[in-house]
Amino acid sequence: MEKILSLSKRRGFLFQSSAIYDGLNAAWDYGPLGVELKRNVKEMWWKSMVRNRVDVVGLDSSILMNPKVWQASGHLDNFSDTLVECSFCHQRFRIDDITNLEDCPNCDEHQSLSKPREFNLMFKTFMGAAIDTASEIYLRPETAQGIFINFSQVLNTSRKKLPFGIAQIGKAFRNEITPGNSIFRTREFEQMELEFFVKPGQDEEWHKYWIEQRLDWYISLGLRRENLRLREHGAKELAHYAKATVDVEYKFPWGWAELEGIANRTDFDLRQHSQYSKEDLSYFDEQTGNRFFPFVVEPSGGVDRATLAFLLDAYHEEEIQSSPNKKPELRTVLRFNQHMAPAKFAILPLSRKSELSELSHKIHSSLSGSFSTLFDDSQSIGRRYRRQDEIGTPYCITIDFQSLEDQQVTIRDRDSMAQERVSIDQLPAILRHKLNIES
Ligand code: GAP
Repeated sequence: MEKILSLSKRRGFLFQSSAIYDGLNAAWDYGPLGVELKRNVKEMWWKSMVRNRVDVVGLDSSILMNPKVWQASGHLDNFSDTLVECSFCHQRFRIDDITNLEDCPNCDEHQSLSKPREFNLMFKTFMGAAIDTASEIYLRPETAQGIFINFSQVLNTSRKKLPFGIAQIGKAFRNEITPGNSIFRTREFEQMELEFFVKPGQDEEWHKYWIEQRLDWYISLGLRRENLRLREHGAKELAHYAKATVDVEYKFPWGWAELEGIANRTDFDLRQHSQYSKEDLSYFDEQTGNRFFPFVVEPSGGVDRATLAFLLDAYHEEEIQSSPNKKPELRTVLRFNQHMAPAKFAILPLSRKSELSELSHKIHSSLSGSFSTLFDDSQSIGRRYRRQDEIGTPYCITIDFQSLEDQQVTIRDRDSMAQERVSIDQLPAILRHKLNIES
């Protein structure tokens, strides 16, 4: 984890938020490479969950919602962690993280902890100029509720029939008591959520289907199978709305932890919102003439957690022998799957001389419209290759003086380090074929 955090900072994946003001605890900014990686996570999710399916449509609902939403959803009453507070240092701990209720883990001397109490995790703020209870409003702690309250409008406008789903990616906020492990648990994060509506009675079958789909998604994008597992929630652990939940867990450096939860939310949310809003959110089945509340299966993943897992899983160190009479050196390489790599290509002219530079910029612009492509003309070629390996760029394209004569360039493969000479005319087609992605 330390190596990944150091590389992330050095190469521009992740920065501590507000660093010039001593930072803000557990808040992170994504640098130039981090933002590309995170966008790839979201784009690949959207592609697999929305674009490639006829039974799912997308949505982008607002973060701020009428506070009645949180009353109906049960979040005002139930969305809390139990915490204890130290009487000496006043630090708060989640009760699940404490082994001995008599001792504060933060103080040298034995200091007593307060009685356990419930702490609501929702961030509260005020809308408009008045600061009173009438203007209290919450930042959403999950994107899901924006989907439930739009259920009828999406159903009517998209003319979908059950089973069908509504997907959304967006920010969520939780005033976590113990955030940590970099972007694993933060107070501001992004979720990728699908609410998949099905006929009651078909929910368990669909739950199984989505568990498999979601596990396969992570594997198809390069996470190693041995670093993933499924874990079913025990009865006490289930959220207030869930009948069953299975987590996809990843083997993080500190142990197995949740990447994504796939919950069977029953008809809880649509029923609650119908009751509280007095709008009928039931579904009319034209085939049978029955009206009922659909059940919901919800795969809900964290964009930031997935980004961290893709980074960790890609990290490799290996010894390489650059020439026979030199000592072996250590090469750090991020072996990202091609879809996840923040940059697909790096254009590396051997010299800054104008003719080479012109040709290199031409090649850069022929690729950068369709693929994230870097341009680097500083330092020795060896160092530039190392830099690209360290950020996981699958292919480097080197342009040398010979290129001006024979209109050929060298492609270097990140993983095998093999080099091949190809004609500039055919470069886009060859690279597309190598990446096995259309655009
Ligand atoms: N709508 C269901 C829901 O929100 P959750 O298990 O509480 O379920 C879903 O959250 C996912 O959101 C988690 O699996 C995790 O990936 C991500 N997540 C939750 N809290 C987070 C936090 N504090 N920081 C980063 N990601 C978080």
